[in-house]
Amino acid sequence: MSSRAPQIVVVPAGDFVAMASDNIAQAIAAVLARRPRCRLALAGGSTPRPVYEALAGRDDIAWSRVDIFFGDERAVGPDNPASNYRMVATALLDAIEDVASVARIEGERPPEEAAQHYAKALGSQALDIVLLGMGGDGHTASLFPDDAASARTDTDVVVTCSPVPPTTRISLSRRALNAAQLAIVLVVGPGKAERVAQVYKEVASATPHLPLSHIAPDPGRLVWLLDAEAARKLEQPNEPNLL
Ligand code: 6PG
Repeated sequence: MSSRAPQIVVVPAGDFVAMASDNIAQAIAAVLARRPRCRLALAGGSTPRPVYEALAGRDDIAWSRVDIFFGDERAVGPDNPASNYRMVATALLDAIEDVASVARIEGERPPEEAAQHYAKALGSQALDIVLLGMGGDGHTASLFPDDAASARTDTDVVVTCSPVPPTTRISLSRRALNAAQLAIVLVVGPGKAERVAQVYKEVASATPHLPLSHIAPDPGRLVWLLDAEAARKLEQPNEPNLL
């Protein structure tokens, strides 16, 4: 099996939020055991929301040592219902007082300006942990199939075009995502099972096509945390184990 193959962790649908919360808390603690701060990039979309709510309820995460980043943002302001920042703020940030820092992607600015500003905030240090989702078309963050900017590897932040509105997005690039020490991909539901199996074949065979197939941090680690429904088309999931 290719060294790019993700570590697959499959959990019963009913346990997904608790397992994701536990795994993420454990990953943050592992970083803080060896480093003063943890640079954590959060995913948007609907899958992670209950996980963020569970993280907000924990008392074992040293948020004062966690720098929060975002994997992507829609080109909208922070109060817009489509804003990933708004979702994360209501599910997590509003509930944790002492987070070390939050680098918001300023979707209300002209996109290229927002991308440059975010690249500066990101700096040159790799992210420790990146949380990602997967869209039904195999996109991840805001890296979309058949979108030239989504394939760029010469920069860390890109302005991309989504097939569904809001169409203009600002996203961490493949390069930034693959520089992470650990990428955790969170996917649930039967509707994504076919695509999960397709992306697994692509990323393991190192002949990637879809955006998520290009995400295989090296030397970092890649973990797919799936519920049983999203994993049901995988022929041979790895031994399910914790991070
Ligand atoms: C976004 C996310 C996006 C998301 C996938 C899956 O801005 O929407 O970054 O990449 O992770 O679209 O979304 P769901 O979790 O809602 O299925």
